[in-house]
Amino acid sequence: MDRVSLPALERNRQVKDYICTHFSEDPIPMQNALKASEKAGLKEIQVPQNVAKMLYMFTLLVRPQRILEIGTLGGYSTLWFAKALKGGGKIVTIEMEKAHAEVAENNFALAGYEDCIELRLGKAQEVLQELIDAKEEPFDLIFIDADKESYPLYLELSLKLSQSGTLILSDNLIPKRGEIGCPDPRDNEALAIYEFNQAMRDHPFLESHVFPTIVGEKGRVDGLGVSIVR
Ligand SMILES: C[S@@+](CC[C@H](N)C(=O)[O-])C[C@H]1O[C@@H](n2cnc3c(N)ncnc32)[C@H](O)[C@@H]1O
Repeated sequence: MDRVSLPALERNRQVKDYICTHFSEDPIPMQNALKASEKAGLKEIQVPQNVAKMLYMFTLLVRPQRILEIGTLGGYSTLWFAKALKGGGKIVTIEMEKAHAEVAENNFALAGYEDCIELRLGKAQEVLQELIDAKEEPFDLIFIDADKESYPLYLELSLKLSQSGTLILSDNLIPKRGEIGCPDPRDNEALAIYEFNQAMRDHPFLESHVFPTIVGEKGRVDGLGVSIVR
């Protein structure tokens, strides 16, 4: 981060603003969801508009019947998935914070999507294992966006809930701190992310890539993981 010059960051921010303004304006239900989340005091850690639109575009491409999301927050990204489903299909979204889940469920109901979204309250590790044990039908699209330290485990469990052709998307694959590709050994989040990146790159059943994204007020470069199950 320190090595990126200020003019470069400013240009990144301008590119992000341009994309958001011209290609990824939030529809009314998403605007309402963000307002309700802010009012309820939720942290603003949802995907930015430009990344939300990428999730939406991927969903339109894949035409999934079943979507699994790990990390709901106030349901902003979930609403983008729901919009892309156009009334067909189902989303299971996992959240461990009751307060977040309540805001999200209200947002789903206000947007009229409560019938196609099932929110599972609980720790993702446990809920994913429950889905596996219940021999839940495989998902066509999985979005990983919760605690970074568990990403390697989420990948392993997600693969058990996938089938050939499943698209696994994963947010924040470029850690905020430290040298790129060379994490501080005390930074558990960054270590887990690089472990995840290596696992998705080397997995024999996955074809993977990281798409750069521009995030945050300052225009930091992050990455969205895109993996296809062979
Ligand atoms: C980055 S936010 C999700 C943002 C959301 N996908 C969006 O873009 O609108 C991460 C969410 O994951 C939840 N979370 C963190 N660790 C979790 C865990 N172990 N199990 C389930 N949810 C978890 C947090 O409470 C938070 O609401």
